[in-house]
Amino acid sequence: MARRRVAILISGRGSNMRALIEAARADDYPAAIVLVVSSKPQAEGLGFARAAGIATAVVDQGRFGRENRDREAYDAELDRALTDARIEFVCLAGFMRIFSATFVRKWEGRIINIHPSMLPAFRGLRPQAQALAAGVRVTGCTVHYVVAELDAGATIAQAEVPVLAGDTAETLSARILGAEHRLYPQALRLALNSQTF
Ligand code: GRF
Repeated sequence: MARRRVAILISGRGSNMRALIEAARADDYPAAIVLVVSSKPQAEGLGFARAAGIATAVVDQGRFGRENRDREAYDAELDRALTDARIEFVCLAGFMRIFSATFVRKWEGRIINIHPSMLPAFRGLRPQAQALAAGVRVTGCTVHYVVAELDAGATIAQAEVPVLAGDTAETLSARILGAEHRLYPQALRLALNSQTF
């Protein structure tokens, strides 16, 4: 089995990144995590990746403005880091940026994300708080392909998580995060196994 060269993109804590790195230690896992890229130099997850012996890169969003052309420039630099490392497949794990159309077009079908809700419910920011506000009794997490529209690509896998009486955004987020750590490695395996490279 040829392992696919996978990059993980983070902006912060990196606990999903860690779950993927740990899963990829299994002999029969179809991915080799060969690069972690952060949009922030201080992202906590970078330390774990470095300690695990994985190459890291920072494409610091602080060096870029907020105009469209800045987004294009950012994504061009990110794309170069991925291409230089001969990356075949990309996992977003708490990467807090929206991509340009050019970048999505290039990577479409080879880039996936995890979102802490049962999409299409509760897209966008703070989906756990959105779920509480809506009064649902079940929420969860989704791994999906990335397309130009935010949180709208085809679903690869989902896991349900109960909302319990007395939940706050924090307690619910923690319960969903546990499910995310189990789901993401399974979903990446599924996505790679159904991929034609
Ligand atoms: C997770 O809840 C993920 O679903 C969302 O951002 C959070 C990232 O957490 N996209 P971590 O950095 O993986 O710990």
